[in-house]
Amino acid sequence: MKIIAFAASNNKHSINRQLAAYAAGLVEGAEIEVLDLNDYEMPIYSEQREEQYWQPAPAREFHARLREADGIVVSFAEHNGTYTAAWKNLFDWISRVDRKPFKDKPMLLLSTSPGSGGASSVLEQAVHHIPHFGGLVQASLSVPDFEDNFDKERQQVSKWHLRERLKEAAQRLFPPGWNSRWAQ
Ligand SMILES: Cc1cc2nc3c(=O)[nH]c(=O)nc-3n(C[C@H](O)[C@H](O)[C@H](O)COP(=O)(O)O)c2cc1C
Repeated sequence: MKIIAFAASNNKHSINRQLAAYAAGLVEGAEIEVLDLNDYEMPIYSEQREEQYWQPAPAREFHARLREADGIVVSFAEHNGTYTAAWKNLFDWISRVDRKPFKDKPMLLLSTSPGSGGASSVLEQAVHHIPHFGGLVQASLSVPDFEDNFDKERQQVSKWHLRERLKEAAQRLFPPGWNSRWAQ
């Protein structure tokens, strides 16, 4: 089983990327690839730019990475209560390559922030939004107070109860008997 994990953020030191990578590592026996949105940067989407560039290479490449995954782990950064501009822009371009880019793949959706809200607003939006684009949301979890709850040296969640909840969420990514051939 191959898992693509990424943060919906272009922060080079993204706390959500650290969380996504850690959570993907909790799925037993999976091969994990962590993507960085900075490798897929594009101009802000506009219809004129689409006429000019058609489907830019970074959009096609990111779409291809999603297609080759058996499961997807995304952790959403929250900017002003919603998606970061970086993720929204990448997603807008990808949606022009494929209206349902997640292709019935199982997904684990996460979010974190330095504050007590844990970016739960954006996570709630994503849980409702992603299924419209073909994502099979198996579990979701918001991690509050990242600095208090994540050991940056060990790159792991430090609080026992949160670790257990994340483990449980990660184990739900591939339900028992899941066969990747069911996804397109
Ligand atoms: C423009 C901007 C808006 C933000 N808005 C929110 C917000 O609405 N809710 C929140 O919990 N954190 C907010 N934050 C703080 C982010 O949670 C914090 O920067 C976090 O590190 C983002 O995750 P990342 O490191 O994965 O990009 C905001 C930060 C910026 C720069």
